Amino acid sequence: MAKTFDTPEREKESSVIKLLAIVGSQREYGNSFLLTKETLKPLKEINYEIIQLAKKEITFCNLCGKCESMECPLEDDFNEILKKLKEADGIIFAYPKYLFKAPTKLLCFLERLDLIHHFRKHPGYSEELRLEQNVSPPLEGKHCCLFVVTDPGENAEECLNLAANEVKSLGMKLILYNSQLGAHATGKFRGEVLRDQKGIEDCRKLVRKLIDSISSKI
Ligand SMILES: Cc1cc2nc3c(=O)[nH]c(=O)nc-3n(C[C@H](O)[C@H](O)[C@H](O)COP(=O)(O)O)c2cc1C
Repeated sequence: MAKTFDTPEREKESSVIKLLAIVGSQREYGNSFLLTKETLKPLKEINYEIIQLAKKEITFCNLCGKCESMECPLEDDFNEILKKLKEADGIIFAYPKYLFKAPTKLLCFLERLDLIHHFRKHPGYSEELRLEQNVSPPLEGKHCCLFVVTDPGENAEECLNLAANEVKSLGMKLILYNSQLGAHATGKFRGEVLRDQKGIEDCRKLVRKLIDSISSKI
């Protein structure tokens, strides 16, 4: 099998915990990717894959509503990523703060996840709206955690809050870093995040909590 930079070469065993990290930065191999890779590298007991949204085509939902009875009909990378999210035991969303609280590509991706649930719960959008009682969110119960990268000295709370609310509304179980919503590291220039050893260590602690939470469920 071809080796990729994103996917570590590890034996895949079905009993081993599988984590999928979605890096929401809009630039490839930026600080959010480097933080995620550095955090996961020493964790020998798990399998993981890192998906960079910067390398993927994710278009805006056009509200066609067809996903109420089938997978999303848009021909981009969304369905493939959703399949991987469903297969993973745990999920990490890692993203930087830009001018808004999170990159718009990540928001677009989270909106697509949310709208699938919305259209299944409220089908008939173009004719007569109904309410389906027994529809679960597509990633219900999935264990998940958040990493945010900002400029040094910036507060990550608002950024964490934004994705935290979204993953909770998707039915995921958000694992907290102490009482905070996620872990935070800093880096202004590409690569600078690797100097923030405390930030990397915080992310590792959070991933260990994520793994413990998954193990106690399995
Ligand atoms: C256009 C732009 C705007 C940014 N705005 C902010 C900001 O408002 N607050 C902040 O803390 N960091 C801001 N940053 C810094 C990024 O959070 C930081 O560079 C981060 O490491 C980028 O992650 P990435 O390499 O994964 O894209 C900004 C960076 C860019 C490129």
